[in-house]
Amino acid sequence: MSGEGFKSVRIVKADSFKLEIDSIATDKSISHRCAIFSLLSDKPSVIRNFLKAEDTLNSLKIAVSLGAKVEFDDEILTIVPPQTLLEPDDILDCGNSGTTIRLMSGFLASRDGFYVLSGDKYLRKRPMGRVADPLRSVGALIDGRRDGDLAPLSIRGRKLKPIRYDSKVASAQVKSALILAGLNSEGEGSFSEPEISRDHTERMLKGMGADIRVEDRIYFSPLQKPLKPLNITVPSDPSSGFFFAIAAAITPNAKVILKNVTLNPTRVEAYNVLSRMGAIVEFVQKENIYEPIGDIIVRNSELIGVEVCDNISWLIDELPALSIAMAMANGKSVVRNAKELRVKESDRIKCVVDNLVLCGVDAKELDDGYEIIGSHFNKARVNSYGDHRIAMSFAIAGITSGMEIDDFNAVATSFPNFIELLSRITEVQEL
Ligand code: S3P
Repeated sequence: MSGEGFKSVRIVKADSFKLEIDSIATDKSISHRCAIFSLLSDKPSVIRNFLKAEDTLNSLKIAVSLGAKVEFDDEILTIVPPQTLLEPDDILDCGNSGTTIRLMSGFLASRDGFYVLSGDKYLRKRPMGRVADPLRSVGALIDGRRDGDLAPLSIRGRKLKPIRYDSKVASAQVKSALILAGLNSEGEGSFSEPEISRDHTERMLKGMGADIRVEDRIYFSPLQKPLKPLNITVPSDPSSGFFFAIAAAITPNAKVILKNVTLNPTRVEAYNVLSRMGAIVEFVQKENIYEPIGDIIVRNSELIGVEVCDNISWLIDELPALSIAMAMANGKSVVRNAKELRVKESDRIKCVVDNLVLCGVDAKELDDGYEIIGSHFNKARVNSYGDHRIAMSFAIAGITSGMEIDDFNAVATSFPNFIELLSRITEVQEL
């Protein structure tokens, strides 16, 4: 299972670089949704560049356990949905993936059958009540450890009443779970959140023909008939590309071109923050299929400290990598309103600050974020805590100072070719 290996690496301090990358891992969020949403059609979905990483392959394996037939022909994935969902004869293993377990909870809670969802030791510590509680309020039968908050989750699926829910957290996983349940409930449902979270679910389901309206809140109606199948090329993942954007931003005279990335505004906010810090960032849109897609160019320039307290859900996944730029910038940076970081693949507030401190950086935890006084990195031996984004963030820090990282295997959850790409900039040694 992901994150449970002990492979350690040494990153060697690097020189400047100019790099064009057309093989950034493709988008994790969109790939998960391809695997799950294909089950809402009665015809085969065709998906080019599906992300073959542990997290998204777990979603695909679950689709297979529910009766889908899948076939890879080079980079083209065909998913043939079952006529009716199979009731699986074993637990559904979501590995390290919060998106898989939360979206699947919503999807399965409103579909007849008995299902058990579980995952690795990290996922089994993450809160599921944020999805299970609103679903229970409309009749879902979901149970789990700690009063139903922790996986394994058992689900006895059945038709649900219409939901009207005002979420306290801006979470695309909560929003998507409730929409998926609502597509098979007794009437129109609606959802609101404190700020708009990433909107791939709305865009993709609308593209497939679902009745979803984004107004003052999001309204969604039960499906009258199966949806159109997906026909999609998954763009590159801006969250994965961001590690190399940071590499360019902190390395004198460096430049990176990230090709064919989704430029969805709910996903590129971290690049805007990097630009506010002084890096030179350019977006070049090339097409618009479900989402705007194009290239992102990032060049080094002197970085200054920044305050980040708005639109947090638009850059939540990039905050660990951004912390590396903050630690290299002149002056103080502050991240606030980011308590959600505490319930990601690790407690990312604690893990980021602990690792920065090990590297000699002046960093301090806040309840809902952190403060970092920019200085420089010392070489240190840090741990990923089983978290892919912590592992990759500190690998990037390593190009300025050298770094040793334990439990590095976690990168396989989202970015299997990360080391190969990093090796174009610097030497990566297995310890
Ligand atoms: C995701 C949503 C975000 C993000 C996660 C992927 C998704 O989580 O952090 O990596 O694909 O819906 P939340 O929705 O819980 O904020």
